[in-house]
Amino acid sequence: MIPIAEPLLGEEELNNVIEAVKSGWISSKGKFIPEFEERFAKYCGVKYGVATSNGTVALHLALTSLEIGQGDEVIVPTLTFIATANAVRYTGAKPVFVDSHPDYWCVDPKKIEEAVTTKTKAIIPVHLYGHPCDMDLIMDIAKKYNLFVIEDAAEAHGAEYKGKKVGSFGDISCFSFYGNKIITTGEGGMCSTNNKRLAEKMKILRDHGMNPNKRYWYDVIGFNYRMTNMQAAVGVAQLEKINKFIDKKREIAKWYTEALQKLSRSGLIKLHPEMHWAKCVYWLYSILIENKFGLNRDLLIEKLNKVGIETRPFLNPIHIMPPYKRNGKFPIAEQLAKKGISLPSSASLNIDKIKYVVNNVLQMFFGS
Ligand SMILES: Cc1ncc(COP(=O)(O)O)c(C=O)c1O
Repeated sequence: MIPIAEPLLGEEELNNVIEAVKSGWISSKGKFIPEFEERFAKYCGVKYGVATSNGTVALHLALTSLEIGQGDEVIVPTLTFIATANAVRYTGAKPVFVDSHPDYWCVDPKKIEEAVTTKTKAIIPVHLYGHPCDMDLIMDIAKKYNLFVIEDAAEAHGAEYKGKKVGSFGDISCFSFYGNKIITTGEGGMCSTNNKRLAEKMKILRDHGMNPNKRYWYDVIGFNYRMTNMQAAVGVAQLEKINKFIDKKREIAKWYTEALQKLSRSGLIKLHPEMHWAKCVYWLYSILIENKFGLNRDLLIEKLNKVGIETRPFLNPIHIMPPYKRNGKFPIAEQLAKKGISLPSSASLNIDKIKYVVNNVLQMFFGS
């Protein structure tokens, strides 16, 4: 089976973990944690990094540190992973869903402005499948209505908007290091920020709310959202390789885009976009199936699975999920969710494997 996204781990990760284990620092103290935080923040072009146990709690930590809660509204795209909305609900605030942009699949800034009310406190733009959001337009809306911006960059480490890395625009930005992400720590997450006060507050909240100057004294109710030294040990080694991983993912995207041109020109599929202002990191290279000749997305997934190719349907929009059911109109997200399929995108893939995938896709459209 060619997997959709597998981690690429080597001797460096192993050696760091061995060092962490031998040092005895296997929980959330140890040298790799501050090293990973500092180096990841620097990579994103921000001052502070706060490592967490996963990306979902990074979002919750960011929202909590901004004091978002009961009675507040937070604008999120409906086409995103469920964790974006769940983190808002954990605070007691209400996620308000917004439709996607048809050209690049992330949240549509024009529709964000339409969703702002007197209760809106924040916007969470999600850089979906590795493509950045249109941050200038989003930051302008945030400024106009005095809203916080929390970037959900779980799928887009290293992606750039007009030459600047994602994770450096928002008041706080959140990343995931789950096993299938651009870099991994197994499970893991990070909040990045330029705001010292927020970084310090998040570190306190991540550690049960313990006063940093008075052990076992709790001024606030916090959480245990700490990353372990062993996770950070893997993260430090992965960070050394992040540019190589991204270059490889962009090369894979180029191979797919060139090889699938014929289908795209015939109007049978749409290729993974990259806007002129974007550097996409193609976390998962994805295409839209236009459902002509009776070959729809689900049939393609089934057929590719039979020849050993793992794929993924697009995320379902959150507004159709039972806990979040809304009657709003989100036609673009609904269409994308029906047509979208992600192809194998691991940095470990070589051109022969991509050719195998492409030849099977072509054969399924045109026959042998
Ligand atoms: C857009 C988005 N947000 C948040 C998350 C949550 O991250 P984690 O799985 O590390 O909790 C993910 C992870 O898949 C994601 O894709």
